[in-house]
Amino acid sequence: MKHQFEGNIYLLGFMGSGKSTVAPILAKKLKRSFLDTDQWIENETRKSISQIFAEEGEDGFRQQEMKCFEIVSQMRQLVVAAGGGAVLYLKNWLNMKKSGLTVYIRCTPELLLERTKADETRPLLAGKEEERFNKIKNLLLLRAPYYDYADIIIEVVPGESVKFFAGRLFQHLEEYI
Ligand code: S3P
Repeated sequence: MKHQFEGNIYLLGFMGSGKSTVAPILAKKLKRSFLDTDQWIENETRKSISQIFAEEGEDGFRQQEMKCFEIVSQMRQLVVAAGGGAVLYLKNWLNMKKSGLTVYIRCTPELLLERTKADETRPLLAGKEEERFNKIKNLLLLRAPYYDYADIIIEVVPGESVKFFAGRLFQHLEEYI
C-alpha cells in the first residue's frame, strides 16, 4: 500500500500565477486544508499587505512572512499558497524543504500581466501597464533561479482554466505523494 504523504505542499510562483486560486481546489481534491501566507499575515497583523508595506516597508513585511513560514512548517498536510517573494529567503526554503514538497507554478510574463493588471493590492507591481510589465519582467528574471529550486515545476498553458490546471497539477502530484 502507498504510504500517505504527511508533509505540506507549497505552491510557489510569481504574483498572478494562480497559487491562491489553485490552493483551495487542490486541497479539496487531496482532502487537506489550505493556507494562504498573505492571508495568514493579514489576519495576524490585522493589516492589509499594502498597509504593512506602507508602514513597515518591504523588510517589515518579509519579517512577518518569515514568521509565517516558521509556524506553517510545524504543521502537516496543508496546501500552502506562498507569497511570490518568499523564495528569496534561505530561511523560508529551509522551512519549506524540511516540511514538504515545493511546486513552482511557472507563467509567462504576458500572462502574469494579464492576470494582475486590474489589481491594486500588490505594492511591488504598482504603476501603469507598461511600467508594470517591466517590473514583472525584471522581478521574474531576478527570481527565476530561486523558483527553480522547487521540487516540481509545472507550466501554466495560456488559455487553460484554473480548474483544468488544478486537475493537471493533482495528477502530477500523485507520482510524488
Ligand atoms: C509579493 C507577492 C504577494 C505578497 C506581497 C509581495 C512578492 O503575494 O506576498 O505583495 O514579493 O512577490 P502573491 O504572490 O500571493 O500575490
